[in-house]
Amino acid sequence: MTRSRAVVILAAGQGTRMKSTLPKVLHKVGGREMLGWAISVARSIGAARIVVVCAPGADVVHNYVRKELGEAAIAIQSVPLGTAHALLAAKSALGDFDGDLAVLFADTPLIKRETIENLLASLTSGVSVLGFEPEEPGAYGRLVLDGDGSLLRIVEAKDAGEEEKRITLCNSGVMCGDAQTFLRLVGAVGNNNAKGEYYITDVVGLAVKEGRRNGFARAAAEEVAGVNGRAELAEAEAVFQARARTSAMDGGVTLRSPEDVFFNWDTELANDVIVEPGVIFGPGVRIAAGSIIRGFSHLEGVVIGENCEIGPFARLRPGTQLGSKVKIGNFVEVKKTHMGEGAKASHLSYLGDAEIGAAANIGAGTITCNYDGYDKFKTVIGPGAFIGSNTALVAPVTIGSGAYTGSGSVVTHDVEPDALALGRARQEVKLGWATRFRAGKRAAQSKTSED
Ligand code: UD1
Ligand code: CA
Repeated sequence: MTRSRAVVILAAGQGTRMKSTLPKVLHKVGGREMLGWAISVARSIGAARIVVVCAPGADVVHNYVRKELGEAAIAIQSVPLGTAHALLAAKSALGDFDGDLAVLFADTPLIKRETIENLLASLTSGVSVLGFEPEEPGAYGRLVLDGDGSLLRIVEAKDAGEEEKRITLCNSGVMCGDAQTFLRLVGAVGNNNAKGEYYITDVVGLAVKEGRRNGFARAAAEEVAGVNGRAELAEAEAVFQARARTSAMDGGVTLRSPEDVFFNWDTELANDVIVEPGVIFGPGVRIAAGSIIRGFSHLEGVVIGENCEIGPFARLRPGTQLGSKVKIGNFVEVKKTHMGEGAKASHLSYLGDAEIGAAANIGAGTITCNYDGYDKFKTVIGPGAFIGSNTALVAPVTIGSGAYTGSGSVVTHDVEPDALALGRARQEVKLGWATRFRAGKRAAQSKTSED
């Protein structure tokens, strides 16, 4: 039986290097807040309790935690006196928790569940630390091991001697231990160091002093790279995108040019979906098997059935649901609209707040006029209806099944099934008009050239 687990996420740092009005931990990677990634990995290891240590006054962070985990998950670190001090701020929220405790940093969004599982598996009587070997150990804390590979202590770069600085195994910041032992040790940490901060890393040496044995596990450098500024945020994004592309392709999706397709964390593509270059998936996209998304299309909040053909240059917005074999062509925008099986809008349209039946054909240039500046209104188009090119459908309006609208019509009233609606001026033809017009112009021209 695995022991019960709790996770504390440290998110009270100031994040000044982001130069942002938005707190660092709410910046997004793959469309999800970095703090959200930390919470999701905590959930994935089955944490019975998750506590987020926040700075006082960081209301947007508090609101985020409240929404994700509830009020009880918010712990406030009154002043940022260091990572050990931050963990202690979570103590009362952890209450009488008994089991294993893992500490995560909210600015390290790419850690995988398996990695934390490995770390927990390395736990014996002391604490365990997740190490990694970055290209540039630079400012990272160094893991000091003894001959038989047990972790003796962690030395922060600023406090390290020349020899210690040459150690390449660094501290990722992720750490775990038996909750009661961990919290007791962290309470004994002092701040006699270069930064005058309470370092959580000091618990490692304190555990050894009590005769405990520490463990460690290793992670890939890209997995534990911390995000401090915008350039590191972009690097984390690139790692996320690379992972998402690989996982889509492993699932049977064809990406013609993988590096030119951008995923959101929740994008779901079934097998045999084909995605051309330049496609951007915003939040909430789900596409069933066999559909093709042609180049330069932008999709968010849409569910697409099997064997659909979308784009190029299509824009699908939230609330869109397409049945199977739907065709959306170039320069078509669809919002909050359901389209039944085999319905088509092949060119240049805006379809908003609409219900479109199976096999309906929406002609080029069709617009649903769904908004009067105050409210939105619905357009219903029955199955098999044929909307002529350049029809303006003034909602609320219903076009019956199998009905036609004449090209260029402005349709303001409901149309019965199988009827034809014409809402345009009748054409007038003036025979010989152009001949007379040109003759008049030519006469005027020859008169001016004689003058
Ligand atoms: C820390 C580690 C270092 C490790 C590195 C990995 C310590 C003492 N050092 O250094 O060994 O190599 O991370 O990235 O732990 N935070 C608080 N309250 C505080 C201070 C920090 O909540 O008072 C939070 C921050 O929001 C952040 C995390 O703790 O999520 C790490 O803090 P940071 O100051 O970035 O630590 P580093 O100096 O990077
Ligand atoms: Ca950091």
